[in-house]
Amino acid sequence: MNKKIKIILWAFFIGLIVIATWSLMPMKSLQNSESENTEDIDSDLIVVGFSQLGSESDWRSANTKSIQNALTKENGFSLIFSNGRQSQENQIKDVRSFIFQEVDYIIIAPVTETGWDTVLNEAREAGIPVIILDRMIDTEDESLYVASVGTDKYAEGKTAGLWLEKYLKEQKSGYDALQENDPFSEVTLQDESGQNTDIINIVVLEGTLNSTAQIGRSKGFEDIAVLHENWNILAFENGDFTKAKGKEVMLKYLQKFDDIDILVSQNDDMTFGAIEAIQEAGLKCGVNGKIKVISFDAVSKAFDMMEAGLINVDIECNPLQGPRIAQIIECLEKGEAFEKISYVKEQVFEAKDAGIERFARSY
Ligand code: AHR
Repeated sequence: MNKKIKIILWAFFIGLIVIATWSLMPMKSLQNSESENTEDIDSDLIVVGFSQLGSESDWRSANTKSIQNALTKENGFSLIFSNGRQSQENQIKDVRSFIFQEVDYIIIAPVTETGWDTVLNEAREAGIPVIILDRMIDTEDESLYVASVGTDKYAEGKTAGLWLEKYLKEQKSGYDALQENDPFSEVTLQDESGQNTDIINIVVLEGTLNSTAQIGRSKGFEDIAVLHENWNILAFENGDFTKAKGKEVMLKYLQKFDDIDILVSQNDDMTFGAIEAIQEAGLKCGVNGKIKVISFDAVSKAFDMMEAGLINVDIECNPLQGPRIAQIIECLEKGEAFEKISYVKEQVFEAKDAGIERFARSY
């Protein structure tokens, strides 16, 4: 056999091995490359593909855990988890991969609201029910998903505004009472807090733009803010729900504005970064500081900060949504009715109660 024929035969032989290995690969390896599933898919169980939008915050970790704890093998589920790493493109790939794997259900926690119709149509054509988690999608065709489980982000924003309204009222009545008894009190009180009916300068750290959490919380807060002529919103900027970006934007705010009274930070991670920025600038925030802090989520570390007096109030966003998802899938399996849109319960936590309230919490 001459050398040329030998090389061709070897190339042919190696090609055959590559094709055989590829075709024998288990389903799992055909998943999106970002998939973090550690176990093999068990098709005797209910197979669920879960596209989580990322791992940007403590809240997100608690939300992921809640789904993983609810959809366990013991409970009859085989879960394929995929991390979208803050990219809708990745999430769309995840969904297509789930469709390819013929899962029984798809859960999507969408990073932003628009642009889901095409891929959800593909899921529908494949006969796979889709459940939307945490945030919402913006679509004209509500039949593209069977259910949504999350929190009312608009109500959260409004609650933040109402809390500030109440806080400023309390400050004002404290100020009035003090003035009646002590005509010199004005100087002291204004020196310490400067908060009464004066202009209230507010900066907002927004979460990922066009996400339900950003849209809802901004709109909810603004709807209360417009009712108060003395609330002056100096800036809204995107801190992307991360500690690093929160710190970066807060540093910018501190360089630009020298009279910030209120920080509204749309999640705890951004708040942690912002507090670092405030402290590094040599300023004080929270209960005894000049800058009052309103945060969202109420994760465990935020309770530490409330106890330390660094955050005034935290509007909860409850990540424990797994049990409701499991319930809905059970209903679908049995052909039973369920609420299409469900919100999990939430509370508001103030610094003064943080020490006691935290004992009843699991994240
Ligand atoms: O969509 C929920 C928000 O997303 C949480 O407030 C935040 O921490 C997360 O990143």
